Amino acid sequence: MLQKFDPRNADLLIYVNGEILPRAEARISVLDSVVQGGDAVWEGLRLYREGVYCLDRHMRRLMDSAHALDFQQIPSVESIVEALGETFRSNGMEDDVHVRLTLTRGEKLTSGMDPRLCDKGCGLIILPEWKPPVYDNEHGITVFTSSIRRNGPEYLDSKIHHNNLLNNILAKTQANYAGCDAALMLDSRGFASELNGTNLFMIRDGIVYTPYAHHCLPGITRGRVIEICKELSMTCHEKDISLTELYTADIVWATGTMGELTPIRQIDGREIAGRDEAHAMFDQIVSSFVETRASYCTAV
Ligand SMILES: Cc1ncc(COP(=O)(O)O)c(C=O)c1O
Repeated sequence: MLQKFDPRNADLLIYVNGEILPRAEARISVLDSVVQGGDAVWEGLRLYREGVYCLDRHMRRLMDSAHALDFQQIPSVESIVEALGETFRSNGMEDDVHVRLTLTRGEKLTSGMDPRLCDKGCGLIILPEWKPPVYDNEHGITVFTSSIRRNGPEYLDSKIHHNNLLNNILAKTQANYAGCDAALMLDSRGFASELNGTNLFMIRDGIVYTPYAHHCLPGITRGRVIEICKELSMTCHEKDISLTELYTADIVWATGTMGELTPIRQIDGREIAGRDEAHAMFDQIVSSFVETRASYCTAV
């Protein structure tokens, strides 16, 4: 699945370090840490009519990621949320919007790896785009298991939502060549971790499972789905999930802010059974996600 250009995004106004600039003029310094080392953290947010979904959770993860990477002079949550609202208002945006919010370690005084070279404090980019959920949530997507493993705490903790995305991009490249929509990434032991940009769930015999967050991003949507299962009195366990368990699951789906809840209809050429009882459970989870959404939105 290749996203297409939405003509509504031709004249976007983008927030860059305190200024709101037309798309063509929105630039950051070539000395910014994100250019030199992918040294930044980010959040993908979604704006619905009622506000930004799970704003507090996204801001908490952003702050945690920045703190874990030892960023200095981190802007306050209040100032980031204010900039977010200002950017939406400048664009006349109220719904159907996905935001790529990036916090960089900042501009360096000279090229180099030492974080102390970023002596001016963090950089902030708010890129909002008109973007309804991007996957085919009606028919589902196909997935290919990549040979590229997802980072775990032994290398670069997947709990940091950082811009060093090359291993996920390499995995997605393999999926593209395999003619599939997304890459399934395994952890260092060969258990499923997540897709290259979304988390993973399955149902087998009436029980919902998702991989431990040891080698995946603890996604905000993933967290809500786990809560929804509890609210619906469904059993949901985090566990090690092997490829065989996924191939033989009753239903499998992906979760993320970009695409919400997306059924996976095929993994490595194996059709996922999509048994009726599991389908009914999945439909209930999706309905609850949609029905409770407004109450998790914050107006900015
Ligand atoms: C690697 C990865 N996994 C999962 C997700 C889904 O997380 P969320 O539900 O917070 O959007 C993302 C989203 O940015 C991601 O980059």
